[in-house]
Amino acid sequence: MLYPEHVIEEIREQSDIISIISEYTALNKKGSSYVGLCPFHNEKTPSFSVSEDKQLYYCFGCGAGGNVITFLMQKENMTFIEAIKYLAERENIKLDETYLSNEEVENNKKRGLLLEILTESARYFHYSLRAPENEEALHYLTSRGLTMETIKHFGLGYATHQFNDLYEYLKQKGYSDQLLLESGLFLQSKQNQNRLYDRFAGRVIYPIFDLSKKVIAFGGRVLDGSMPKYLNSPENILFNKSRNLYGMHLAKNSGASYFILVEGYMDVIAMHQAGFTQTVASLGTAFTPGHAKLLKRHAKEVVILYDSDGAGQKAALRAIPILRSEGLKVKVLLLQEGKDPDEYLKTHGYESMKNLLEGAPSDLWFQIRTIEKKYDLKIPEEKVKFLQEIAGLLADTSSSIEQAIYLKEISKTYEIDEEAFKAEMNRYYQQGKRKVAMKVEAVSPHQKKQVFNNEVIFLANLYHYPNLARHVQSYLKPEFFEQGLLYDLAKAILESLRTGEEIDMTYFTTHYPEVNEQNIISHVLIHKDQRYEDIALLQKMMTENVKRLNKIYIERRLKETTDISEVQNLLFQKKELDRLNIDYING
Ligand code: GTP
Ligand code: MN
Repeated sequence: MLYPEHVIEEIREQSDIISIISEYTALNKKGSSYVGLCPFHNEKTPSFSVSEDKQLYYCFGCGAGGNVITFLMQKENMTFIEAIKYLAERENIKLDETYLSNEEVENNKKRGLLLEILTESARYFHYSLRAPENEEALHYLTSRGLTMETIKHFGLGYATHQFNDLYEYLKQKGYSDQLLLESGLFLQSKQNQNRLYDRFAGRVIYPIFDLSKKVIAFGGRVLDGSMPKYLNSPENILFNKSRNLYGMHLAKNSGASYFILVEGYMDVIAMHQAGFTQTVASLGTAFTPGHAKLLKRHAKEVVILYDSDGAGQKAALRAIPILRSEGLKVKVLLLQEGKDPDEYLKTHGYESMKNLLEGAPSDLWFQIRTIEKKYDLKIPEEKVKFLQEIAGLLADTSSSIEQAIYLKEISKTYEIDEEAFKAEMNRYYQQGKRKVAMKVEAVSPHQKKQVFNNEVIFLANLYHYPNLARHVQSYLKPEFFEQGLLYDLAKAILESLRTGEEIDMTYFTTHYPEVNEQNIISHVLIHKDQRYEDIALLQKMMTENVKRLNKIYIERRLKETTDISEVQNLLFQKKELDRLNIDYING
């Protein structure tokens, strides 16, 4: 770990979880905790709770939970280290570089070397592109309409057909094979394991930059129709696909009030060349919440400009909820003529594109139009079904202000009575609410409802029902639980039952920093299971679990131990267990 425990703990203790989370959702004090609408999923009634004394949050709807550090990791897509640094800065705590562990020092060194290799390679590729013997490659790019200025601006290059060209060049600069392999620029020969050859040989090269304009990866395209059309660098310590957008290093400084999201390298480059310097692409990979967070830091609105084919339309439908759940305003433009933005610009030019962008329909209208295509509105029954479906869509996804606006537009567009449509929407809304009470509220697609296993649920019940727990504690051992977090939690809960003292949160923050670990901790310590209106049922559940855990433990020990007296003891316990009927009556 990067920083010593006491430093992390100091930062966590000084960071006020209430004020930090309040920046994302309004919290109201209720008893010993604060409640509000969950910032991790869409909901209309608050099920998100923050405990000030435990410094933990937990959502009863989607199961998201953790401490202030994991909150930033999940919500801002920060790494653990980034979250620590961010909080330290906020609280004016000085972090000393001497806190770096040997491993971190090594990693930093490696990052530095990899960046060096990629920069050297980008220069080499660019130089090759302009060498007279490779004019075929340069001609390919210019024939696609790119100017020399654009080619330089994006640092485009060419990897020659000679498969060891770049390798020899970098070798002579003294980099080790191991490091070159990690750079993602090379592949290992199948015939001869020791030989490295250039992954991108024979392709035009598109360097991928991070926000500080350092080259962190490459894309390479064939010059002809061969397959695969594109190759990309694999992910490594420099390059994370779900957190980088192609063109972002330029787009973030465009000064435009909205981003344009396209599908490919060539689209980004053509759009920039035409003057739309706010264009970025997610490069073949699906659009992720990490991408949305990146966009959100620099603008409030995004226009999705994907290919007009079926795949583009599907990808747009998937990106919409991800962008919306980050609070971004979304519009969608699917080009009717010309397959993609690059081609469209060639035939129609800047002005035409600008008009289309400015008139792009909102995400909801795009969704409505997509639904409309499924029905034949001339047939009354189909029209009813269509209106029911869009009433459901509006009830589910929009705010009440949006609903009011859409209500008017929809009734005008489809010639239906506003009141009738409103009634339909309310019906869905009520239904929705009932569904929520039964299971969980509509959790946005990327945020699945957490599922906790039996052991975790059992520990939560032990913690939240101490009076019942006291009856079974003598039958429980921390050893019943998996070594690590669950063992430690069991130990701490049993200890606190015995002594009546609160659990030491410091230990759990510093020993279990991972998001999923903090999620389990917050579930156990905050989630009081309310399903057991009937205490007898909860008692039964506890007894059953005590028996089950004992059995598993005894059987495991029987396999492990060679000590005769322990074996006898275990066999005796096993017999006793069947007769065990824990008595709660005199609690
Ligand atoms: P051009 O054909 O040069 O105009 O490229 P494009 O950018 O228009 O590509 P396209 O719309 O076909 O694909 C969009 C993006 O998906 C590309 O820019 C690539 O990032 C990615 N992509 C396309 N084909 C492949 C492939 O074969 N392999 C990989 N890994 N990615 C691909
Ligand atoms: Mn294209």
